[in-house]
Amino acid sequence: MSTASLQMLLTRRSVVANKLGEPGPEPGELAQILAVAARVPDHKKLAPWRFMLFEGGARAEFGKVLAAACRQSEPEAGEGRLQTEAGRFLRAPVVIAVISSIVDNPAVPEWEQILSAGACCQNMLHAASALGYSAQWITEWYAYSEAVRAALGLAANERIAGFIYIGTAREQPTERDRPDLDEIVSRWPIDQ
Ligand SMILES: Cc1cc2nc3c(=O)[nH]c(=O)nc-3n(C[C@H](O)[C@H](O)[C@H](O)COP(=O)(O)O)c2cc1C
Repeated sequence: MSTASLQMLLTRRSVVANKLGEPGPEPGELAQILAVAARVPDHKKLAPWRFMLFEGGARAEFGKVLAAACRQSEPEAGEGRLQTEAGRFLRAPVVIAVISSIVDNPAVPEWEQILSAGACCQNMLHAASALGYSAQWITEWYAYSEAVRAALGLAANERIAGFIYIGTAREQPTERDRPDLDEIVSRWPIDQ
């Protein structure tokens, strides 16, 4: 691996959706991001995931779904809150829903298929970063809303692994503390 790639992996930071803006990836770049996302470890080649893109006017349209779902689950929500929900997907030029689609296969436990979907999300972040964009992996409340699931056409075997917001950082994030490797790395055999 080149020093530059390693440096990117060592320094990548998410940029919160509120700090993302135009421009977003061009169509060719988006195709590359999606190709990288689909190039993940995938036991038995099940491709137990799919991607749904929100761009342009679709983001505001989907905002109507979010506001309606919010009103339904929280009838006391005020106008300000509903406006926030309606504008969620407008925070970035492109939002990609990564959908975990569990395949019935006795050789590949559900856990492994979910991990593979998580790898798609992480690969998307890295691909966006390699192209000079910034991104954030978000679930927020709507990844778990039944009304939103229905609007996205999710089947019973499907779940949202994440919404990947991609755009250009309007502000660079500061460094974030990372775990002390001495705390999380051990070697077997374990000291008694
Ligand atoms: C499955 C998953 C869901 C997440 N959902 C949210 C979320 O809803 N809101 C949020 O602010 N961060 C969420 N995060 C955290 C951010 O993606 C990110 O890790 C965090 O902003 C720290 O940035 P870093 O990638 O630079 O460590 C989520 C992370 C994961 C793995």
